[in-house]
Amino acid sequence: MPPPHRFLEACARRPVDRLPVWMMRQAGRYQPSYRAVRQQVGFLELCRSPELIAQVTCAPIDEFGFDAAILFSDILVHLPAMGLDLTFEKGEKGKGDGGPKIANPVRTRADVDALKVPVPTRDLRYVLDGIRAINAGLNGRVPLIGFVGGPFTVASYVVEGGSQGFTRLKTMLYADKAAAHALFEKLTQAAIVQIEEQVAAGAHAAQVFESWLGELDREDLEEFAFPYLARIAAALKKTGVPSIFFGTGLSGHLERIATLGFDVISVDWRIPIDEARRRVPGLAVQGNLDSTVMLSSAEASVKKALGICKAAGPAPGYIFNLGHGIQVGTPPENVKAVVDAVHAFRW
Ligand code: CP3
Repeated sequence: MPPPHRFLEACARRPVDRLPVWMMRQAGRYQPSYRAVRQQVGFLELCRSPELIAQVTCAPIDEFGFDAAILFSDILVHLPAMGLDLTFEKGEKGKGDGGPKIANPVRTRADVDALKVPVPTRDLRYVLDGIRAINAGLNGRVPLIGFVGGPFTVASYVVEGGSQGFTRLKTMLYADKAAAHALFEKLTQAAIVQIEEQVAAGAHAAQVFESWLGELDREDLEEFAFPYLARIAAALKKTGVPSIFFGTGLSGHLERIATLGFDVISVDWRIPIDEARRRVPGLAVQGNLDSTVMLSSAEASVKKALGICKAAGPAPGYIFNLGHGIQVGTPPENVKAVVDAVHAFRW
């Protein structure tokens, strides 16, 4: 890694020359270059090719000048190694969007007990080789963020069998608490081994995606989510790379999330960024442009983005990002306009 990079500096709450900016789903279907790759290969096929992983991870760095790359993969890629039959519907060659589908979802305690914890060096070699190929392609230009899904968010797909809501998983919490804990335990172990190996392979930071955790009330967060997330944060601390927690709909719980052991909290657009920063004074904050605005015009996108930069304030420890991922259909020129505006922003 060349001289300290502004993204890693901001994670450590050290001063930076310009605000660092990257965007969740910065590699994806809004890009013509990504769609061209997807004309040739299915989504899971893409995730399993180290060469293609490197190509699509590096493309947004070249195209937009983001300050960090994020590993191209998915929070569900390890599920086949756990014994689950994962496909992405309509995820085959040339097709547009495809949601995840699990043919043998986990419904009973016996299903949970049958799940295997993956061995990343054996089962997810393509991810680790992908990380090495990305770093070769980046050549030290920007740091690489590795990631895993949070146990609750991954469990929602594992139990529902796809993107079908949360009713079955939430029912399991109340109907068979022990099975739910056993499931979160396995998914926590799976998350820890994956993120440790990603860092060993060359990831410079790690983000935990708990996208749907806002579904739970405080009592259930305390029982079924926070203890597991604290273990993932502790494992990350040992690796020495900065850790980022991402969730949505969690504005009511920021102070508590700040105690879990992550270095950075990524917040959605439901809370003003200045309020988020005030409420977690000891941590770096990432966020929080509503990606929907980038479906409109460059002018509207830049106006909102600059409002966020200003509200975030001059104190070190702020990383510009979205509240959730870039949406399909976003004009790439709007993304470029936002990146350039954030980089040009000065106090
Ligand atoms: O952010 C990045 O650029 C890195 C790559 C990345 C993807 N998925 C690529 C992807 C990351 C970090 C993820 C995380 C992920 N995957 C999450 C958490 C973040 C979030 O968005 O809330 C979740 C919930 C998933 C599960 C998942 N993967 C779903 C529900 C879907 C289908 C719906 C959709 O958004 O397309 C996917 C597919 C997926 N993952 C695509 C991409 C680029 C689209 C696949 C395609 O090319 O057809």
